[in-house]
Amino acid sequence: MVSSIALLFLVLFLTSSARSFADDFIFSGFKRASNLSLDGSARVTNDGTIQLTNETRRVMGHAFFSSPVRLLDNQHGSSSALSFSTIFVFDIITIGTGSGHGLAFVMSPSKTLPQADSGPYLGLFGAGNNGNSSNHVFAVEFDTAYIPGMFNETNGNHVGIDINSIISNISTPAGYYSNDSNKKVDLDLKMGKPIQAWIDYSANTRVLNVAIAPLSVPKPGRPLVSYTIDLSPIFKEYMYVGFSASTGKLVSSHYILGWSFRTDGIAAPLDISQLSIPQPPSASSSSNSSSKALAIKIGDITFIATLIVVGTAISIFFYLKQRAKLAETLEDWELDHPHRFRYKDLYKATKGFKETELLGRGGFGQVFKGVIKDTGEEVAVKKISNNTRQGIREFIAEIASLGRMRHRHLVELKGWCKRNEDLLLVYEFMPEGSLDTLLFDGKTSATLSWQQRFKILKGVAAGILYLHEEWEQVVVHRDIKASNVLLDSAMNARIGDFGLARLHEHGTNPHTTHVVGTLGYMSPELSRTGKPTTSSDVFAFGALLLEVACGRRPIEPDAPPMQLNLVDWVTECWARGELLGAADPRLGKFYDGEEMELVLKLGLVCCQSAPEVRPSMRRVIRYLNGDENLADDVSLVFSERESVNLASGDSCNSSCGIISTSSLNKGR
Ligand SMILES: *[C@@H]1O[C@H](CO)[C@@H](O)[C@H](O)[C@H]1NC(C)=O
Ligand SMILES: *[C@@H]1O[C@H](CO)[C@@H](O)[C@H](O)[C@H]1NC(C)=O
Ligand SMILES: *[C@@H]1O[C@H](CO)[C@@H](O)[C@H](O)[C@H]1NC(C)=O
Ligand SMILES: *[C@@H]1O[C@H](CO)[C@@H](O)[C@H](O)[C@H]1NC(C)=O
Ligand SMILES: *[C@@H]1O[C@H](CO)[C@@H](O)[C@H](O)[C@H]1NC(C)=O
Ligand SMILES: *[C@@H]1O[C@H](CO)[C@@H](O)[C@H](O)[C@H]1NC(C)=O
Ligand SMILES: *[C@@H]1O[C@H](CO)[C@@H](O)[C@H](O)[C@H]1NC(C)=O
Repeated sequence: MVSSIALLFLVLFLTSSARSFADDFIFSGFKRASNLSLDGSARVTNDGTIQLTNETRRVMGHAFFSSPVRLLDNQHGSSSALSFSTIFVFDIITIGTGSGHGLAFVMSPSKTLPQADSGPYLGLFGAGNNGNSSNHVFAVEFDTAYIPGMFNETNGNHVGIDINSIISNISTPAGYYSNDSNKKVDLDLKMGKPIQAWIDYSANTRVLNVAIAPLSVPKPGRPLVSYTIDLSPIFKEYMYVGFSASTGKLVSSHYILGWSFRTDGIAAPLDISQLSIPQPPSASSSSNSSSKALAIKIGDITFIATLIVVGTAISIFFYLKQRAKLAETLEDWELDHPHRFRYKDLYKATKGFKETELLGRGGFGQVFKGVIKDTGEEVAVKKISNNTRQGIREFIAEIASLGRMRHRHLVELKGWCKRNEDLLLVYEFMPEGSLDTLLFDGKTSATLSWQQRFKILKGVAAGILYLHEEWEQVVVHRDIKASNVLLDSAMNARIGDFGLARLHEHGTNPHTTHVVGTLGYMSPELSRTGKPTTSSDVFAFGALLLEVACGRRPIEPDAPPMQLNLVDWVTECWARGELLGAADPRLGKFYDGEEMELVLKLGLVCCQSAPEVRPSMRRVIRYLNGDENLADDVSLVFSERESVNLASGDSCNSSCGIISTSSLNKGR
């Protein structure tokens, strides 16, 4: 506490120098600056920084140079953008872990940006005008929150260029290139220390360069972002230049410490030593303070005691505040989609997560059947327990994206809820259960007909294609298998658990590669590198094709005389000219021979060990629909699998498996 008082006395009374013409100005601090227009939460602090937002939720602040700057050259009938250059120092301070949403350097025809919104819009745009070319807004964003799928962001710590839209034209994780090694050094925008930024636009080359670096590092020779764009159609003749920042449910204090700008030349460098640096409030309550307090020569022991008590109280206050912030960031992610359920409602719906309502237990947790009281809607509630806080936090960010996925072959994620260490995901209820149960559960008397099986496989393929190619970003499922294929009342296939493998990934230590996947469905390169790709999903789908056609699991550890590897077994049946002998004996003769042959061969094509020769899902669907002929690929498979031991004389019609332990080991 005493150190904060000392700090107050130590504040430097800087004189801000502001020169008077519009196209060249410099602020070495903003104390008594009369040339700024502030609105929203923006204010100039006592020590001469612009605080665009404090840690209040859902606010935005703007700070513009009060006079407009001329940015178009209208000389020869056509107007072209002028060069400009700017240097500024910003500082983003956050108590707790959830930092948001970021700040931006902005050039705009208006000083107030009337349609702008807080939260992820950074006070630049709003739902009503985002992407409208009549905005004439150019911005460079320094964004500390990540909302997947919506704003073309790379991560929760990026620099982006925004033109008329908060959806960045280009976005790059924050960092700088060091001169010596030309290596990119990561830089955490929200580290709570000042960061210097340089933005330069050349009218001749039409190249926009952006660089950032900590104060200790001079301007890097190589910019972080270099983007070629003609700003002539974006600019109006006169534009206001300044800064914008916003908070949402995630909050930070956003500061600008100094600023230099000029058109048609290089902005004057800032004198770093003149800038005052905002202090995070928690610094004044650290443990050093009390020892310093004791060091002052004050005879009055009760005064010291009072100091200690007050100091402790303040420490506790900040500790609690920090804890509250931490909890908040977990609870209050910027989510409208999907719906967030109340724990109470889910508790009631599942009769208190009663054992009798348990539908199954998977790699990620237990699944309960539930009926939502208000609507009478049947749902499946997946309860994922004992997660690390970090894992959940990042995963919740992804729920926003998963919840917007809609496809008739995906199980819809209806909502979520988080309570303590439990994450609850609410899905549509699938009355017919999983493909795995239907194929292998002895209790199911009726076996699936071939027609049903073929339709299910086509549905699964369509669902995977959506994840791979038709959604706004590529989603690798990572755990395609029969138990993740669910069936609705019309026996249509619906893929479940998509995106969940990411939860696992987020939760694990990056230094230990934890492979997500299921033995028998896992491609050799996935078990080797741990890096899932769309072709590892294709491999898993190939294993599923064989499984459904043969009615056997991809790997049967107990098959006599030894373990059975389905891929090798089908290959061997084929080599012996008895491909159809691999068909599920429970089907009897009731199947279409051509379709069966197609599914078996396609299964082998998808399960080739070299990922680059596996077909894409789009191609797989063309094969399944008969739009394309499999012949060429098939000869390829054969040459690859020639090495399989064909010596065994076992008949493929018997259920007795032939072994290839080497390929079994590959699957681990
Ligand atoms: C900037 O402020 C100074 C004094 O505070 C004033 O004299 C000057 O005209 C202002 N410049 C502009 C461009 O408004
Ligand atoms: C933020 O600023 C507003 C007014 O500008 C003030 O009322 C509020 O208390 C401040 N909040 C914090 C957390 O400092
Ligand atoms: C873009 O903004 C202009 C002016 O506000 C408005 O007239 C126009 O309808 C908007 N266009 C779209 C597509 O929203
Ligand atoms: C990028 O900027 C241009 C303006 O030149 C804009 O028309 C375009 O929509 C933006 N987005 C992409 C993805 O290029
Ligand atoms: C998203 O950003 C990337 C580069 O960061 C760019 O290539 C792409 O065009 C952008 N997409 C959209 C839709 O703006
Ligand atoms: C890096 O190079 C640029 C120009 O090439 C120079 O201005 C800058 O001072 C250099 N930085 C360091 C740390 O040497
Ligand atoms: C606490 O003490 C350490 C070393 O004694 C010092 O580096 C640090 O800056 C101090 N912190 C504060 C808030 O005074």
